[in-house]
Amino acid sequence: MAAETGGGRAPDAQRAIAKYRARAAGYDASAANTMDLRRRTVALLGLQPGETVLDVACGTGLSFELLAGAVGAQGRVIGVELSPEMAAQARRRIDARGWGRVELIEAPMESAHIDAPLDAVLFNYTHDVLRSPAALDNIFRHLRPGARIALAGIKHPPWWLFPARLWRLLKARPYVTTFEGLDRPWSLVAQRVRGLEVTPVMFGTNYIAHGRWTP
Ligand SMILES: C[S@@+](CC[C@H](N)C(=O)[O-])C[C@H]1O[C@@H](n2cnc3c(N)ncnc32)[C@H](O)[C@@H]1O
Repeated sequence: MAAETGGGRAPDAQRAIAKYRARAAGYDASAANTMDLRRRTVALLGLQPGETVLDVACGTGLSFELLAGAVGAQGRVIGVELSPEMAAQARRRIDARGWGRVELIEAPMESAHIDAPLDAVLFNYTHDVLRSPAALDNIFRHLRPGARIALAGIKHPPWWLFPARLWRLLKARPYVTTFEGLDRPWSLVAQRVRGLEVTPVMFGTNYIAHGRWTP
């Protein structure tokens, strides 16, 4: 897999499970400073009532409310999450809110069974999944023509901001199992989505991107 991702260490599911076992309890607090970006990213999906949206590596389900609100009672939100501890929190969130239309699949994105054509896909802070060709294959084979894709996440700032690159690595370390592709984390998606629009945010240490998939 390393060759397909351009060299560097491939994402490692077992290490991700171990990292998020330690992180799950404090995850929501740590994500508070990116909630505005999450709202912007979900808005880029342009969700309509009745649509089906995939929340890739949904974590504790922090995007569920935004997604469920946008697709309405006739729509579906499908969250896929690898870590049992993160998924347990997502499940508690679903139960507490009584969202019948939000479904959780606890599985690696590479092998999760998606049973519906997808109108839209959210990748919010999912670097490991973005660097996994097998996970992207499993997502893209379920897209409807014209499906909207939105991404946000961490990236390296430009090379001349060298201290900021070191800071980026240190901050990212607890949440990812590979730094491969950190200069252009969206690059494997961009190979599949022509004209993907990418905007650096937060001094180039994060990005937001969106596009439309045509077969
Ligand atoms: C930084 S968290 C982001 C969670 C969520 N997307 C959010 O916006 O809050 C990254 C998540 O990716 C999950 N993950 C990593 N590799 C995965 C894989 N191959 N399949 C599914 N989930 C994965 C981790 O368990 C973790 O919950």
